[in-house]
Amino acid sequence: MGDISKIIRAAAGKKRFCSAVILAAGSGRRFDDSRAKQFLEIRGESVLIRSVRVFQESELFQEIVVVTRAADREGVQKILRDAGMTKVTRVIAGGDTRQESAKRGFDAVNPVCTFVAIHDAARCLLTDDMVDAVMESAFVTGAAACAQRAVDTLKRTNGAGDITETIDRENCWQVQTPQVFLADMYRAAAYLAEKDHVLATDDCALCERLGFSVRLVDCGRTNMKITYPEDIVIAEAILDSRAKKPEDKA
Ligand code: CTP
Ligand code: MG
Repeated sequence: MGDISKIIRAAAGKKRFCSAVILAAGSGRRFDDSRAKQFLEIRGESVLIRSVRVFQESELFQEIVVVTRAADREGVQKILRDAGMTKVTRVIAGGDTRQESAKRGFDAVNPVCTFVAIHDAARCLLTDDMVDAVMESAFVTGAAACAQRAVDTLKRTNGAGDITETIDRENCWQVQTPQVFLADMYRAAAYLAEKDHVLATDDCALCERLGFSVRLVDCGRTNMKITYPEDIVIAEAILDSRAKKPEDKA
């Protein structure tokens, strides 16, 4: 078990400084559009700006680092400036995998950072309430991630589509972002994953493998990720329903 209490104690002695790393360096292969999905507009605002804005407007965050494809860097810098995203300190080029992009983003945060929140730009329906909830949890436990409870019965297969196991749904979750970590924990996890050639599809996995415990925070199904073209229709419907009932952010 990673000794989280030691890391929490060390961080408690420092002034809290929270950095958001927004991952927007993917090419959206499943989305199948000539433009990368992070630049698509949904109800008048791009997926990227929607994601960055949540951290820009949260009092908990001191800085934002945006990770983008090398060719998009200058364009993204301008888009962010024009949208008034004043907390963005760096726009840097990502890597070939999400994990590499996250590591590069983390390497670019201010050295005084005590908590890092890593967020997929594509998950652009995140709300300030969700951010507050996951940050509050991370401040207590040292590591927390947004997630939703599994709604369908889960099956494991042999790879050919034949069921080999039914997984108890009761304790199954689908993990989302942001995923928030004590900076010292994430530094160790990212470094060791690279050293051990471990590739994972989320950041929690890198900390889990070192024995650190990560608390999941239920953010429901509306913290969805834009993955396929049909997700746009669902995102628009969610935004429309929030606009009708501003008090209901879920
Ligand atoms: N991402 C990244 N760097 C990569 C790959 C992904 O920063 N090398 C980002 C994406 O821009 C996205 C987030 O990680 O905001 C989650 O990834 P995903 O939804 O898989 O996006 P893409 O990789 O762009 O899409 P696809 O897998 O369909 O190609
Ligand atoms: Mg991907």
